[in-house]
Amino acid sequence: MRKVLIVTLMLMLALGACAHADDVKIGACIYRFNDAFMLRFRQAMQAESEKLGAKIELADGQDNQSTQDEQVDAFIADGVNVLIVNPVDRMSSQSIIDKAKTAGIPVVFINREPTEEMLATYDKAYYVGAKAEESGTEAGELVASYFKAHPEADKNKDGKLQFILLKGQNGHQDMILRSKYSVEAVKEAGIEPVELAGAIANWDKLEAMKIMNGFIMSIGPENIEAVIANNDEMALGAIEALKAQDYNTGNPEAYIPVVGVDANASALEAMDKGEMLGTVLNDADGQGSAAVKLAVSLAKNAGAEGADGKYIWVPYQKVVRGEKQ
Ligand code: BGC
Ligand code: CA
Repeated sequence: MRKVLIVTLMLMLALGACAHADDVKIGACIYRFNDAFMLRFRQAMQAESEKLGAKIELADGQDNQSTQDEQVDAFIADGVNVLIVNPVDRMSSQSIIDKAKTAGIPVVFINREPTEEMLATYDKAYYVGAKAEESGTEAGELVASYFKAHPEADKNKDGKLQFILLKGQNGHQDMILRSKYSVEAVKEAGIEPVELAGAIANWDKLEAMKIMNGFIMSIGPENIEAVIANNDEMALGAIEALKAQDYNTGNPEAYIPVVGVDANASALEAMDKGEMLGTVLNDADGQGSAAVKLAVSLAKNAGAEGADGKYIWVPYQKVVRGEKQ
């Protein structure tokens, strides 16, 4: 009798500890709301939370790490069951991990990758993202195959690819690895890449437009054979600058292939109009829903759904004129 009672009690305790999805409260910190890709990501997380019946609250870090740190504290004080964090500075992830650990709640990082060492310090810390090198390689391959299929793209007929590189935020794994692997892929394809100019444009369209404008003025558009941008927004900024010089407006004599990464709607539109060569799908839906599913299952103490060790990797995909390759 007593044994039955104890077993029943233990069972009740175990069940009590195991929250239902509709009891799960997620606190999600986004590095900056005003980012076209993170907008898609946020929408995907909201949709998945709704589907699972979990509550999600999103905070805008406004590209400021100390603002985000306060938001993490506020979520913890508020009693969220799990955190999803898109860190402003991925190298600041350790202190966020420490806070989650002290509070005893799981933390799922997205889009900006903490180091392996950081993730290893807490058994309930995970990362959901896409392999940056993959997108770099695929973007480089798009340029290389265009260059091979269009002999006129080699404007100075030297067999080499004279290109401009527009880079995302400093320190971001996507900026470092996309830059490296896109150029690497051009080499792999047997074409010698020559970087005419490169600059950090912080993922931002306007910044990229201004920088590109400067490069067009100093280098001359007739000497530029490609623009490789770490994301679509910067590719679109470069295209604005080119269009202002009557480039990429439909005249095949005045065209520079431009590639980005993300496959945002505005980039697909530019591709349909023939202004942009291609992009690589950065699967916000896949990453957003995987992050929420993982967060909910961790909060319910039901294991790490979908994770392989500390990670969930969502694949990239090449996109040319709206058609997946
Ligand atoms: C996306 C960028 C975005 C950045 C934000 C990258 O993966 O390609 O468009 O600005 O993440 O961290
Ligand atoms: Ca050339």
